[in-house]
Amino acid sequence: MSKFIAYSNVDGKFELSTFENWEFTKDNEKLYTLGQAFCNKFLSGQTIEGLLINGDPGVGKSYFAYAVVNEMYKNNRTAIAISVENLLGMIKETFNSSGKVGEMSIINTLREASLIVLDDLGVEVKTEWSTKTLYKVIEAINSANKKLIITTNMTTEQLKQHLLSSDGVARTFNRIQEMCVPMTVKGDSWRTKGVRERKTNFFKDLGVI
Ligand SMILES: Nc1ncnc2c1ncn2[C@@H]1O[C@H](COP(=O)(O)OP(=O)(O)O)[C@@H](O)[C@H]1O
Ligand SMILES: [Mg+2]
Repeated sequence: MSKFIAYSNVDGKFELSTFENWEFTKDNEKLYTLGQAFCNKFLSGQTIEGLLINGDPGVGKSYFAYAVVNEMYKNNRTAIAISVENLLGMIKETFNSSGKVGEMSIINTLREASLIVLDDLGVEVKTEWSTKTLYKVIEAINSANKKLIITTNMTTEQLKQHLLSSDGVARTFNRIQEMCVPMTVKGDSWRTKGVRERKTNFFKDLGVI
């Protein structure tokens, strides 16, 4: 289990992003219910689709995905959450030190987990290498029949273009569509909400409101 947590290479809020700590807003009640239902169904061994979650920055996509992974840990299941940028960085690094073997071992660890979150797909710079490597990663998860959750700021059309390989075939996107149901998270950005609250507190503190 610790191996999988070590691989969960996400932001520092990962451990705190749980359904227990979930803060409700006017927009996110349904998302909470969906998350709970998703976890219950998956944990009870029933077949369920993966998720392709898109939406504007700051709406809580990563929080949701981390909450699912933390729920897996709580139930002693293996799961990994990793940002695509970090994953590609790790693969590149091990490639420099151990070549193809390093790349294989990272991809194998991913596919050993029962559920994999690829966070922030589309943020990485697109190169021929990144496109090829992402195909390998997603194909590996697909062939191992593991559950995939993707978060992205891109629309499905943007993602399709972003993942297009040089021969113009949407292989990676097609795989994702086979494995994941698309859903959009809507609502106010938590980040601007934070800024708003800080602003209000600042003026209250100064006694001007
Ligand atoms: N349900 C929630 N409960 C508590 N905090 C949340 C919730 N959803 C998001 N946040 C917080 O709001 C901020 C933005 O959320 P995040 O998931 O990073 O957005 P996104 O991935 O959509 O860009 C983060 O600091 C996150 O911890
Ligand atoms: Mg995010």
